[in-house]
Amino acid sequence: MNAPRARIIGTGSYLPEKRMTNDDLCKIVDTSSEWISSRTGILERRVAAEDEMTSDLAAHASRRALEAAGCAPEELDLIICATSTPDLVFPATATILQRKIEAQGAKAPAFDIQAVCTGFVYALSIADQFIRSGMSKKVLVVGAETFTRILDWEDRTTCILFGDGAGAVVLEAVAGDSPQGILSTRMHADGSHVELLRVTGGISRGRPSGFDVRHEALGFVDMHGNEVFKQAVKAMGAIAEEILLANNVTVDDIDWLIPHQANRRILQATAKRINIPEERVVMTVDHHGNTSAASVPLALDEAVRDGRIKPGQLILLDAFGGGFTWASALIRW
Ligand code: UT7
Repeated sequence: MNAPRARIIGTGSYLPEKRMTNDDLCKIVDTSSEWISSRTGILERRVAAEDEMTSDLAAHASRRALEAAGCAPEELDLIICATSTPDLVFPATATILQRKIEAQGAKAPAFDIQAVCTGFVYALSIADQFIRSGMSKKVLVVGAETFTRILDWEDRTTCILFGDGAGAVVLEAVAGDSPQGILSTRMHADGSHVELLRVTGGISRGRPSGFDVRHEALGFVDMHGNEVFKQAVKAMGAIAEEILLANNVTVDDIDWLIPHQANRRILQATAKRINIPEERVVMTVDHHGNTSAASVPLALDEAVRDGRIKPGQLILLDAFGGGFTWASALIRW
């Protein structure tokens, strides 16, 4: 008998109320609306309210995904949350989320994974392995970020790019010969480029003397944008080709490419590299900005809810982020 297959039975997403437009950013840093929109494709992004944590965004998105799936929280036997902006150093945001959505009754495992912008596709791949092995039957996978909390609002090269949000999917184990589900995933990392995209502070770096633990920030996003841009296009193109080849399909078979939403020019260059027309690329970067681990599930949920994604279609998820990390997933919807 074939190993079970993981099928997405519900998607959900959430964006905080507060919009920040490019004009708003012009009041903070030396930039222009025209520069931001022409260089990145971003027109606006959302910013979490002061009392809104990553787990709150994740909980909203998860409730919507559970509702769409017709799944009760206590049916979940695994929760994975991908985030680089956890509520706390510990416990995992996934456990806080578990309590917020009232799923704790099942005592199912819940943990975070951290692969920055690749986080959701990494988490989806991990969930897929749990389902294939028979360990799990109903899994909640979430990508959630409050990335605006780690931005240097004096650095115009980074603060204009990112936004907050969350996206979630519910996976169910189906028969291995079911035509629908996750067909395959691929994951990679190359730690030689850590300095090109990182947050400058962290726990084990220690605290300088006189550091006030209650007031000092834990660092901020620091990026060599140009180099990251080139690496992102190369890696996202290569891992798309790798997964297509491994599954004996061509780019013509793909109905929708859902890439990590970093910059419209990165998405266009990736689409060109693998030769998929832009009309078949889901782009949300204009109204989401770069929401890191939330970007792929946010775009997925948008395309599912507006009817672009239909049963039977072939979907390719493709992401790239700090580390560097990159990953892809091929899904028959
Ligand atoms: O999620 C994965 C991680 N992130 C990414 O994938 C982002 C990857 N990188 C990018 O999206 C782009 O590299 C950026 C949008 C960050 C920058 O665009 P770019 O076309 O690579 O610009 P650049 O860094 O080459 O800068 C061009 C010029 C510079 O001025 P000079 O040196 O030519 O005089 C910058 O100082 O644009 C200037 N600049 C700005 N000007 C106005 C940089 N940021 C801004 C700004 N407003 N916000």
